[in-house]
Amino acid sequence: MSKNIESHLTEERTFKPSKEFAKNARIKSMAQYRRMHKESIKKPATFWAREAKELSWQKKWTKVLDWKAPYAKWFVGGKLNVCESCVDQHLTNGRANKAAIIWEGEPGESRTLTYRQLHREVCNFANVLINNGIKPKDRVMIYMPMTPEAVIAMLACARIGAVHSVIFGGFSADSIVDRLEDCEAKAIVTSDGGYRRGGVVPLKQNVDDALKKYRGIETVIVHQRIGTEKAPVKMKRGRDAWWHDESAKAPSTHKAKAFDSEHPLFILYTSGSTGKPKGILHTAGGYLTGTYTTCKYIFDMQDDDVYWCTADVGWITGHSYITYGPLANGVTQVMYEGAPNFPDFGRFWKIVEKYNVTIFYTAPTAIRAFIKAGNQFPEAHDLSSLRLLGTVGEPINPEAWMWYHEKIGGGNCPIVDTWWQTETGAIMISPLPGCTPTKPGTATLPFFGIDAAILDENGNECKANEGGKLVIRQPWPSMLRTIYGDKKRYRDTYWSDYPGQYTAGDGARTDKQGNFWIVGRLDDVLNVSGHRLGTAEVESALVAHKAVAEAAVVGRPHEIKGQGVVAFVTLKAGNKSSEALNQELRNHVGKIIGAIAKPDEIYFAPALPKTRSGKIMRRLLKELVATGEITGNITTLEDSKVIQDLQAQIKK
Ligand code: WT7
Repeated sequence: MSKNIESHLTEERTFKPSKEFAKNARIKSMAQYRRMHKESIKKPATFWAREAKELSWQKKWTKVLDWKAPYAKWFVGGKLNVCESCVDQHLTNGRANKAAIIWEGEPGESRTLTYRQLHREVCNFANVLINNGIKPKDRVMIYMPMTPEAVIAMLACARIGAVHSVIFGGFSADSIVDRLEDCEAKAIVTSDGGYRRGGVVPLKQNVDDALKKYRGIETVIVHQRIGTEKAPVKMKRGRDAWWHDESAKAPSTHKAKAFDSEHPLFILYTSGSTGKPKGILHTAGGYLTGTYTTCKYIFDMQDDDVYWCTADVGWITGHSYITYGPLANGVTQVMYEGAPNFPDFGRFWKIVEKYNVTIFYTAPTAIRAFIKAGNQFPEAHDLSSLRLLGTVGEPINPEAWMWYHEKIGGGNCPIVDTWWQTETGAIMISPLPGCTPTKPGTATLPFFGIDAAILDENGNECKANEGGKLVIRQPWPSMLRTIYGDKKRYRDTYWSDYPGQYTAGDGARTDKQGNFWIVGRLDDVLNVSGHRLGTAEVESALVAHKAVAEAAVVGRPHEIKGQGVVAFVTLKAGNKSSEALNQELRNHVGKIIGAIAKPDEIYFAPALPKTRSGKIMRRLLKELVATGEITGNITTLEDSKVIQDLQAQIKK
């Protein structure tokens, strides 16, 4: 990432969309972008009302925005059923028999759901939820592999006004427990398992383990993805039921009732700077408007596009750019269950060729892994159907950008580098593919309605090329409404640096053209393969191990993952460091949080570097793992020998 910081000063390469792309794009010129952006900032109500009108509302709003910082209400008085915009409307607008989801399982099978079929499945599963006693505002946890049923379950919740909370299938049983307790979920929808790199992830087994600790679940509905031979499951009587049995008992018609625009739509957990994940709450009308509008302009979705977002539905990207945004646009999308390198690194390109994907959205970490695997994989496939590429999750290094542009885009696909967050709900800073000149490494300019700025410590706007904090100065429809059950944390985390303005937690700069260059997180949050991970979470997992006295976790630059996890550990008396203990601790973290949190390196130390007041000096540890040296001031350190010991170990 450090390369990006410098590249904004030196990057001279600029890429403009071709005339041909611009001709058919929704936004065709920078003049058009500037005019619309100006209007959207000066008169946000006018801009957003025009966009929201394109969605299905059962009752129109009386007021576009009610803003009492830091609490926003959008489309006040309006009533809608999110599911109607995503599914029902397409039954009467000519798209009923159009493919909504073309799904490919990891083993290779493929299945297509038209909008009409999707509608029937969603209605049917909505009735299943109702039959199982789920009421509006009840929390339903979804813990599933990348199958259409995950999307169906989300939409069915939305349809009956229940609040879904999707948990990424890579998270462990303990992580499930924390989230269940926080949102007090009543039901879980899961699968017997999911395929990943040829193996089976035992999802139902993890749920069973979690439910030994959390007792509030009345219903577990299990979709059979794998089958009893490879994924045997125990069904608990009175609590567990098969999706197919419940489905057979339920009708396939369901009348969508309208809910308030501010009705809660979902809670999605993400990492912060404490050990406890934050339940980010999004609500119906504004979120749908944000995801719909960004898909339309940034992915320039057209009726004959085949769109593919490679994210998992367990992350915000999967919520906004698999489930809600694309379906509200009535696009055809590809959904893939498994790993990018199964059976080899050609899988993605094989899928692009097979389904003639036109818009492709992935993460820089995946691109770097592809670069490392070799050009022979993309070169073996016809990628000429592609017309637009996107990235998300972390700053993209210029080398990866150029490779993506040349090897995947054939030199003629615009790249939209999209900056946003779980909290922002939708893309905030991104090129518009038909007009914005791009440079490798910058997310370029704010989207319509987004008033982004970079401020210094005193709240003054930074000049070009001056680093500061990225803030958003006006509310936007898809913004988070609160942290579930923790208003204080909501205010403290996002709204306390500069009153009335949203602090993203990212450091950034603008260049002379006004492009935003995101440098990275300013808080104790790591970005590992585009996934957010709190150092405090990993630390608390480590100290939960019986041998560990203290732990400090920092990130370091990692070639593929962007950031790697490095842990420094002191042991309790009577324990000795060893390779075996190192492995055991890594697995322990994997078990408590999930595989993505496993430290890449663990160093054992007799003590951690601390200030005289007892605070661990993470700054030193960060510098040490990044460079092997300490250059800064260490006079506040309690015992400077500690650093020398660690330095010697790292050198080894
Ligand atoms: C953090 C948000 C948004 C969905 C995926 C991650 C980093 C995200 C970019 C980008 C530079 C980026 C930021 C942000 N980030 N996209 N295009 N360029 N940095 O969502 O887990 O909520 O993480 O990811 O640091 O704050 P998330």
